[in-house]
Amino acid sequence: MRILSIASEVFPLIKTGGLADVAGALPFALAAHGCDVTTLVPGYPVVMKALQRVSDSIETIDLDTILDIPIRILATTLNGLRLFVLDAPELFDRLGGPYSDAGGHDFGDNWLRFAVLSKTGAAIAQGAIESYRPDIVHVHDWQAALAPVYLAASNRPRPRTVLTIHNLAFQGNYPSTIFPRLGLPDSTWSIEGVEYYGNVGFLKGGLHACDVVTTVSPTYADEIVTEGGGMGLDGLLRGRGERLIGIVNGIDTDVWNPETDTAIAANYTRRSLKARLHNKRAIEGEFGLRRENGPIFAVVSRLTWQKGLDLVAGICDDLVERGVRLVVVGTGEAMIEGAFFAAHSRHPDRIGVRIGYDETLSHRVQAGADAILIPSRFEPCGLTQLYGLRYGCIPIVAKVGGLADTVVDANYAAVTSEAATGLIFAEPSETDLLRAVDRTLRLYQDANVWRKLQSSAMKADVSWSKSAGLYAGLYRDLMKE
Ligand code: ADP
Ligand code: GLC
Repeated sequence: MRILSIASEVFPLIKTGGLADVAGALPFALAAHGCDVTTLVPGYPVVMKALQRVSDSIETIDLDTILDIPIRILATTLNGLRLFVLDAPELFDRLGGPYSDAGGHDFGDNWLRFAVLSKTGAAIAQGAIESYRPDIVHVHDWQAALAPVYLAASNRPRPRTVLTIHNLAFQGNYPSTIFPRLGLPDSTWSIEGVEYYGNVGFLKGGLHACDVVTTVSPTYADEIVTEGGGMGLDGLLRGRGERLIGIVNGIDTDVWNPETDTAIAANYTRRSLKARLHNKRAIEGEFGLRRENGPIFAVVSRLTWQKGLDLVAGICDDLVERGVRLVVVGTGEAMIEGAFFAAHSRHPDRIGVRIGYDETLSHRVQAGADAILIPSRFEPCGLTQLYGLRYGCIPIVAKVGGLADTVVDANYAAVTSEAATGLIFAEPSETDLLRAVDRTLRLYQDANVWRKLQSSAMKADVSWSKSAGLYAGLYRDLMKE
């Protein structure tokens, strides 16, 4: 089966969050199920630079223009990942991140950049590249969501389409004035098309047009059909009925493997957990923390309202009072960054803060901290709790979305049967978070109990293998239709 995947980020080439990890790891997991995945990704400067390493094996396909923008496709394989890189310097050769300039402001033409990405994908799906015909087009998030719209609107044969929602909070809504530039037939300016309360909705249009909608955990699939969790799209999603499926994310267990990880001070397995202490000492040094016996909790995250990190910032003094040290790695809202800085100045040797994005540091933190705090207000899946499980860094999570699906709460029954892998609390409030912290500390005080908790966490299957099987089954069912 040939799958064309379309994503605005793919690890290790370009990453701002979990989407990149998923788009980068799923192709390898799907290969084991007979799926041959090629990923269409924009040619951002970092991507073009990475291509220089394989410059001998790039095939260039000139597609002339898409939506009046000159483009080429660079087809190659990088670190085993098959790629179609969308080379459109006018749109993607810019300083900054994938969506915003160096100052953090969204590019004003994001609608055009990602409409071109989507339309290029649709063109490839319908044979624009000779010798390449996908059986399935699998698109991710709003940035690729117009591809199913272009395909459904065309009257030529098309492959079946799957749209995965990684985060319903990002919908790609733009003023109606852009509609004429999208090259879509007038019929798509409708409730069944891209029209969304008088605007153009990229995600909204894709959710209607695709053959199947998936999202990244079963619980998030249940949440987004409710008014409280649907972010305005719950009616549409309810309407998709059985065509909305939740499949939980996995992680790349080679990239994230404490036994072989070269980023960490000491490798370990669940049978050699003592060696983990070297990693704890290493992060104490790296963050300038006082060296002592108590636990270290961690945050590795975008610092945003979604992630509930204002709650962690709000309980810093309570943590210190309880003998907990905290390390924070993240970037995001200025208020939350500022609150962590302030906590650091109050407790310089108990709270360490690193504002910025640092992939290898995130490995060292998962390997050295005792627990990771993830008090999200909503969380489609979440990957840091999966990394935590894999590294024996116990996840303390809110009971939402994929967090609820992937962590087994350390209640009495789960602890005594050695099934527990973390701690779950119900309400995203400082009170409930602190209660979970206190429960964690009680478990931590009993070294034997804690070791078993870590061991069960590290035993949990966080790989892609089950979920890749579900995607492959879904593709097969679609091909039969
Ligand atoms: P989201 O995609 O909503 O941000 P996920 O938990 O799915 O949440 O994925 C976040 C990914 O980004 C994880 O791989 C996490 O380790 C990584 N990450 C987030 N912030 C940072 C940071 N400041 N430095 C390094 N990695 C980070
Ligand atoms: C989004 C979600 C996160 C999920 C990731 C990968 O960024 O916020 O919960 O894990 O996508 O699917």
